[in-house]
Amino acid sequence: MQTIVVRCPAKLNLTFNICGLRPDGYHNVETVFQSISLEDELIVSMEKNKEFEFKIECDHPALKKQIPLDDSNLIGKAAKAFLAQQKTRSNYKILVKLEKKIPVGAGLAGGSTDAAGMLIAMNRFFGDPLNLAELQELGASFGSDIPFCLEGGTCIGRGRGELLEKLESNLQLCYCIVKPRKLSVSTPWAFKAFDQFESIIPPPDSKKTIMGLLSADAEQALAGFGNVFEPVVFAAHPELAELKTELLKQGAWACHMTGSGPTLFAVVSGKEMGQHIRRHILRDDDIGFSYLTEEILQEAVPPIDFKLAESSTFGARIIS
Ligand code: C5P
Repeated sequence: MQTIVVRCPAKLNLTFNICGLRPDGYHNVETVFQSISLEDELIVSMEKNKEFEFKIECDHPALKKQIPLDDSNLIGKAAKAFLAQQKTRSNYKILVKLEKKIPVGAGLAGGSTDAAGMLIAMNRFFGDPLNLAELQELGASFGSDIPFCLEGGTCIGRGRGELLEKLESNLQLCYCIVKPRKLSVSTPWAFKAFDQFESIIPPPDSKKTIMGLLSADAEQALAGFGNVFEPVVFAAHPELAELKTELLKQGAWACHMTGSGPTLFAVVSGKEMGQHIRRHILRDDDIGFSYLTEEILQEAVPPIDFKLAESSTFGARIIS
């Protein structure tokens, strides 16, 4: 069996705007994507077999319940899409060991980046027949964020999010990635709720953010950050607004939701400030009280999933 190890970074949407509903049911968006140092790892093993076999192994007991471990997972979809594209007559047995660090159902593209990593691993098994643009085209056929997850770094995303313009940015930011552990938001639900939302939502100033990123001016970049999903998702989950207020009160430079949420990213001056905020948020009885379910108490994990990460220039990639 041949084995390939891939690393798959999470993404943030530094800005996120919805520009209208399309005839195909999707929405046109304009977003500034940023890959970050929070990464999943996939150990992919593959050999020829009489029939197609696919299995994901994931050691984490809580995650096992949250994600499908068969080929209905986006990783399995990526494997099948690649094999179909190659029109191969052979069958394969594929085993994926998944070390999941990116929270699930979080707006961090955890599923899409794993799928991007799987496409890269499959491509390597077959001797790299597809270039990056071809992998991105294949990825876009089953997930709007997959092309960016293959690209990495900083990009403007348009169309469904799959049309990318690379931004050469040297601005390195440090983030607290904060997600109430028991709360997940479905992306189709969020788009529908946005369409039905009664109030006018001001768009982010993505021009300002782009100029700030290009000139490595943090203040200007941050001034343009924003996400039109935020009021929609906060209306359904007011505890998120409370959490954002708390993160800002503790000294974060800015705090916004990524994608369709519910994860918040708070921009901080560095790891020290990040650790200070972490200690405060994880100890504060008033924040997250509503998530202290029996299950969380039994698992003995904090109700808030809190991670520190930095801007990254990497997309999904092979490490060995
Ligand atoms: O492409 P992806 O699988 O991430 O999309 C999930 C769902 O989110 C789509 O089925 C669609 O309902 C919604 N979506 C959208 N417009 C986009 C991206 C996603 O309406 N640009």
